[in-house]
Amino acid sequence: MQAIAVYEGAGEPEIIDLPQPEPDDGEALVRTLRVGVDGTDHEVISGGHGGFPADTDHMVLGHEAVGVVEDANGTDLSEGDIVVPTVRRRPNGDNAYFERGEPDMAPDGEYLERGIVGDHGFMAEYFTSPAEFLVTVPPELAEYGFLVEPISITEKAVEHADASRSAFEWTPESALVLGNGSLGLITLAMFEQRFDRTYCLGRRERPDPTIDIIESLGSTYVNSNETPVPEIPDSYEAPDLIYESTGYAKHPFESIEALAPNGVLAALGIPGDWEFEIDGGKLHRELVLHNKAIVGSVNSHVGHFEAAVDTLDSLSDAFLDDLVTGIYDLADYEDAFVDDNSTIKNAIQFSEYEKRR
Ligand code: NAP
Ligand code: BGC
Ligand code: ZN
Repeated sequence: MQAIAVYEGAGEPEIIDLPQPEPDDGEALVRTLRVGVDGTDHEVISGGHGGFPADTDHMVLGHEAVGVVEDANGTDLSEGDIVVPTVRRRPNGDNAYFERGEPDMAPDGEYLERGIVGDHGFMAEYFTSPAEFLVTVPPELAEYGFLVEPISITEKAVEHADASRSAFEWTPESALVLGNGSLGLITLAMFEQRFDRTYCLGRRERPDPTIDIIESLGSTYVNSNETPVPEIPDSYEAPDLIYESTGYAKHPFESIEALAPNGVLAALGIPGDWEFEIDGGKLHRELVLHNKAIVGSVNSHVGHFEAAVDTLDSLSDAFLDDLVTGIYDLADYEDAFVDDNSTIKNAIQFSEYEKRR
């Protein structure tokens, strides 16, 4: 079967041939339908994030997959089920995080991530997975099922942000998303359903397709070249919730001041090292005197994937069609990795879904 992998130091993906995998006990064999590409994939390809599986010089890419069960192999699944795999796997034997169904809370060394950290991903014609890590999706959502994983990332982050505000009467009205990449836009669409007023910050000038999406959602675009984060409260309003999805390391610090009193910041970006000066005393004081919270959030568990399936169902076709700028066949896989201002969310199609009667 064909797969898309990156070799150490190559800096770009390539197609390789692999034997079709065989499911072990407790695993199902899945025929891959589509696999999405996100900012993390680009960081993995460039060598900025993640790591190769032990004793190999390459890794199959991809962590945002949807597929159809080809061989249920005695698990509770059925052949023909549409499934989305979660990302984290046990590193070597069980640990407490996996035992209690919270692998997303495991620290470094206590997990692998398929297609990211030490384990092959899903960009292959077939993959196997323990059934416990496969979440079923209604057939009508198969087409955009590769969005369940990124949606689940926000389900988790928001759950944790809300939990940090659960000890008092918190009635948030406004939210600001930092970043107009695919994660930022998906999150903005989710926030539109909950908040009275939403804002999304980017650094692009018009005309730009992401600004069109932001406005078609009924949200306000904030151009960071004109209004940097610290000026947002004066120019717009101080948001109750800020969701950082730029990976720009100054943003979380700037957000502490920009938040409304009692507000919460969810930080999602994964930057490289970058030293800069901050006024630590001012930020410390701001956190304390205005009861603000900062929540870092990574990955997601099965419960977040299940919530994400419902959320995907609630998003409008118009938004999804605007967000997904390209679905490419395996032969055109290079186009799916183009990372410029004309693309938002791309996916690679490994096979077509044919509904069974
Ligand atoms: P992405 O497509 O690269 O999106 C990042 C966006 O932020 C881009 O649109 C970029 O604008 C914008 N941006 C960057 N710096 C900016 C600045 N200084 N001012 C304004 N806008 C800025 O990546 P993604 O897939 O959406 O993911 C977003 C981030 O979240 C990445 O760091 C990724 O690694 C991380 N992530 C984390 C998790 C998690 O579990 N914590 C999950 C998924 C992704 P331009 O396009 O104009 O350059
Ligand atoms: C993935 C997460 C993963 C994170 C850190 C994200 O792009 O969606 O599942 O935990 O990267 O590697
Ligand atoms: Zn991702």
